Amino acid sequence: MAEIDSFAGLSPDELDAHWMPFTGNRQFKANPRLFVRAEGMHYTTADGRQVLDGFSGLWCCNAGHGRKEIADAVARQLVELDYSPAFQFGHPLSFKLAKRLADMAPDDLNRIFFCNSGSEAADTALKIARAYWRAKGRPEKIRLIGRAQGYHGVNFGGISIGGMPGNRKHFGPALDVDHLPHTLLPENRFSRGLPAHGGEAMAARLLDIIELHGAENIAAVMIEPFAGSAGVILPPKGYLQRLRELCNQYEILLIFDEVITGFGRTGAAFAAEAFGVVPDIMTTAKGISNGAVPMGAVFAREEIYNTFMQGPEHIPELAHGYTYSAHPVACAAAMATLDIYEHEKLFARVQSLAPHLEEALHSLRDCPHVIDIRNCGLAGAIQLQPRAGEASKRAMEVVLESYRRGLLLRWTGDTIAVAPPFIIDTAQIETIAKTLRAVLQKVD
Ligand SMILES: Cc1ncc(COP(=O)(O)O)c(C=O)c1O
Repeated sequence: MAEIDSFAGLSPDELDAHWMPFTGNRQFKANPRLFVRAEGMHYTTADGRQVLDGFSGLWCCNAGHGRKEIADAVARQLVELDYSPAFQFGHPLSFKLAKRLADMAPDDLNRIFFCNSGSEAADTALKIARAYWRAKGRPEKIRLIGRAQGYHGVNFGGISIGGMPGNRKHFGPALDVDHLPHTLLPENRFSRGLPAHGGEAMAARLLDIIELHGAENIAAVMIEPFAGSAGVILPPKGYLQRLRELCNQYEILLIFDEVITGFGRTGAAFAAEAFGVVPDIMTTAKGISNGAVPMGAVFAREEIYNTFMQGPEHIPELAHGYTYSAHPVACAAAMATLDIYEHEKLFARVQSLAPHLEEALHSLRDCPHVIDIRNCGLAGAIQLQPRAGEASKRAMEVVLESYRRGLLLRWTGDTIAVAPPFIIDTAQIETIAKTLRAVLQKVD
């Protein structure tokens, strides 16, 4: 592969020093892909090329890049209050932010626990679920149910409940978790928006797990409303509703991981609202602070929080938290981000742009190798036929060739995922489709 970026003056020792996450380090360091600036819809590479961001960085820069409002808020906060101890002391901004988030959330998902990432949010949610049942005098309700192809970050709870074997198999025993099947059904190929088939039946597979373990032993089911990292796997119509019904019927908490779907990706603040199904606990991160400062937040129903509020008042009701929970700088970034979403009506913009992205992606149906196309809001995926004996290589080559042509996308397995910032315009959506068409025609 031809070298396309300069090394930005980095020495081999410097390149070696950073052990990069989820990256083929040797491949990358032989030919680094380095960004040095970002503004609006574009990154600038180390060799001075403009790259259209078709992936919101990594599902997080929903309002685009270089937002001055966020930079200013962060700078002000650093000078005013750089850090405040997260335990036993507080600072006003975290309470204001929590209230604002609670007001955005559906129903009574009104109690907000802050952390620093989606992975921390996932493990926090799982711990809350187990501790909730213990606090209710039902300590045997500890089993956790995830879903095949689910992604809930990389901490031990997250890789256990997650359904990606590649992320778990290297690390020894995980939590003992059962998994629902994923909802990628052949009869739903090339659906536009939520697929029509199999929703109720796929959700009813929870009954098999309940039969196996007994609902009296199950704490929670955790899923993404749509699975992002596995390649935009959408819930067929009726799926989430049926899952909600079953969880109600069997007294099992329903946890939505909205790390990707939260903060506008579906055209509503949360997928819970877009899909009309409200969980008991909801995890978020990424778009909460536009990716500018790490932050995560777990939303719990009031009843869950209230259940914890017992025992001696000076004892922490939940023995859990992070040094940087509700970090003042992250709170400032989140507040400024929410202002942008609101003032620029970016979630409504997602609704109006979604049909354009749908049209653009589905126009690629006749391209070589394409075996499925999926879309929802400003997220989409193009699934390719894997090359025999070389799983994920074809999609990787498509993404790298797109990058060479000035477009940032992401591959996951043999799927190419698209998730642009909400400030994208229709011409840029066309550019994504045109580039992909040309690249798909070139890659063998
Ligand atoms: C649904 C979901 N949950 C959790 C995570 C983990 O988030 P983080 O990488 O911030 O730990 C991700 C990251 O992509 C995600 O997509």
